[in-house]
Formats: sequence, C-alpha cells, structure tokens
Amino acid sequence: MTTTPIALKPSSHPLADAEREQILANPGFGRHFTDHMVTIRWTKGLGWHDAELVPYAPLSIDPANMTLHYAQTIFEGLKAYRQPDGGVATFRPEENAKRFQASARRMGMPELPVETFLAACDALVTQDRAWVPGSGEASLYLRPFMFATEVGLGVRPANEFLFVIIASPAGAYFPGGVQPVSVWLSEEYVRAAPGGTGAAKTGGNYAASLVAQAQAAEQGCDQVVWLDAVERRWIEEMGGMNLYFVFGNRIVTPELSGSLLPGITRASLLQLAADLGYEVAEGRISVEDWKNGNADGSLTEVFACGTAAVITPVGSVKSARAEWTVGDGRPGEVTMKLRQALLDVQTGAAPDTHGWMHRL
Ligand code: PLP
Ligand code: COI
Repeated sequence: MTTTPIALKPSSHPLADAEREQILANPGFGRHFTDHMVTIRWTKGLGWHDAELVPYAPLSIDPANMTLHYAQTIFEGLKAYRQPDGGVATFRPEENAKRFQASARRMGMPELPVETFLAACDALVTQDRAWVPGSGEASLYLRPFMFATEVGLGVRPANEFLFVIIASPAGAYFPGGVQPVSVWLSEEYVRAAPGGTGAAKTGGNYAASLVAQAQAAEQGCDQVVWLDAVERRWIEEMGGMNLYFVFGNRIVTPELSGSLLPGITRASLLQLAADLGYEVAEGRISVEDWKNGNADGSLTEVFACGTAAVITPVGSVKSARAEWTVGDGRPGEVTMKLRQALLDVQTGAAPDTHGWMHRL
C-alpha cells in the first residue's frame, strides 16, 4: 500500500479563538496541544488501515498493552513555521519520515510509507493551521509516534500498532531563551552502546537517560552530555540534541557512531555551515580534546542543535573530575550566526536554496 486516505472527522468543539491566542502568546514547550490528531492503525496481514483525523482525545489502553511492558515505541519531532506571506511550511518532513522508518526497522515495527507520513503531517497542520504561531521562531511542533497496541505478555514483536500525530505550539525549549546551557559529562551512566538502539528514536533511550539528567540537575547543570559506552572517552551527543565544536573557522560534529541519533538539524548544519564558508567535518572528539582545546584557546565555541532546541550555546562543562567554561561562557559568534541562518530558512526570511521547506 502506498498512500492511505485520511478520513477527516473534525472537532465540533475546537478551542475558542481567544483561548488559543492566549496560549500562542506564551506556548512554552510541549504543554498545550491542538484540537486534532491523526491516527492510523496497522495489523499484521492487513497492513495500514483506518487513517483518521479526529479530535484530540485520550487513548484507551489495556493494562496488558505490550508497549507498557516492553516499550516497542518510536517517535519523531518536526516543526511547522509561519511564512512571510501568511502560509505555513514544515522543515524537511521527508527526513523525519525516513528516520521514522529506520527507527521502525531497528525496533521490529512496521514501516509507515513516507507518503503516508507526509500526508498525515499535512492533514493535521492544515486542519489546525490557526495553531501555527504568527511569526518569529515560535512554531508548531509535530510529534508523530507509533506504539504496539497488541494485548499480551509474550515477548515478541507485536502484531498490532497505532501511529499517531499530535501537535503542540512551541516557543523556546529552554525557558531562559538563548542562554548558554551548562552540561554534565556522564561518566557513570551510558545512553547507548554499539549494537544497541542509540540511533533509533525510541522511548527506551530517553528512559535510560533520565537518571543521568537528574544527576546533571543535582550537579547544577542543565543537560547531560553522553560519552561512548566502550571507552567513555568520545563525545556522542546530548539528551535531545547533537553537538558541534567550533575551532575558529573549522566546525566539527561527532561522527555517526551508530549509537547517537542522526539529527536532521545536525545534517542541515553540515550543509549550511559549508554554504557560509566554514570548513565542516564529522569526526571524533574526546573529552581531552574538549578540555585541551578550551585551555589553549583553539576551541572557541560549542553548541547543541536539534528540532526542539534549534541551536543552543554550551557555556560550561562539569564532570566528576573537572569543570571549565567554554570560550568566555557567552553565546559565540559562529553559534549565533548559524542559528540565525537556520531560522531564516525555516521562517522564510532567507531563500530555501536546498528545497528543505515543504509548503502546505
Ligand atoms: N539527539 C537526540 C537524542 C534527540 O532526541 C534529538 C531530537 O530529535 C536530536 C539529537 C536532534 O535531532 P533533530 O535535529 O533531528 O531534531
Ligand atoms: C526534538 O528535538 O524533536 C526532540 O525529540 C528532543 C526532545 C524534545 C526529546
């Protein structure tokens, strides 16, 4: 099956305009949800079926639902931005659709056709377009996800799944705005090991990260930085973002080791930074490289990137053994230039030379 037609069953009680506008004035991140959602079912032997756009509502879950026990679940995150002419466009949705398929393969789940993923995103954004914030970097964050719906306690890939997309208006991911974040180098816990699920966007990776995130908070840090599981030496990524290291005109991001998430923002910045004349590379960066580069001044900036957080400067680093400030601790020039260049493409302020924007 290629495309699955989506039956439209709009809400008879969408939120009143005034209440929606109040939310859009200060949406935060992931706190409010739009009036609708898309649901599509998959059954072994039948394939994808019953695609619907319906009012946003709770799902009813059997206590023996396999996901609650064995976590066969994956998700995506992408954004829709208001364009200068009042229209709406999503950023690189095909990339999310393809990564969703890759996550599904790793987790023993059915692959949703790319066209169906795109049609479902388009249907929801079109229906709830009044929820796309009016301008600037605020956006409508789309959260597609899929989980096993089969009931039973046997440990095996499920025979029934539900795909859902919900949407949530998004302001800044970090409440402080573009403030440098402080990071905690996790040496005790690891997020993902070779052969594991680190490159998939699956709930278990996030569950495994939470105790270290709590540890980071206890240490007075905003976020965790994960190291490789084998040597505990090579920088991998953050809890929900990839990392970039700026050495003057040379910009390096940790290579895709198989245990970190292949971020779409990360991939876009490899291109955008090259467009802006920087020398860009994927490579291996160790904790010593970070510390030494910082001490001798060759490492000038570090930033994190991801859909939710866009680009966020890293201001300071702490581990069980050391603590240092990145550069002068303030948002760096390259970081802010790349951040603006990316947002300009997403918000339609700059030409979309790579065909990244998907107009609705
Ligand atoms: N790494 C992790 C663990 C993430 O959850 C995310 C967010 O999706 C990213 C990196 C950044 O990926 P993207 O730029 O595709 O949002
Ligand atoms: C995203 O940026 O889309 C993420 O998934 C990060 C986090 C909210 C899990």
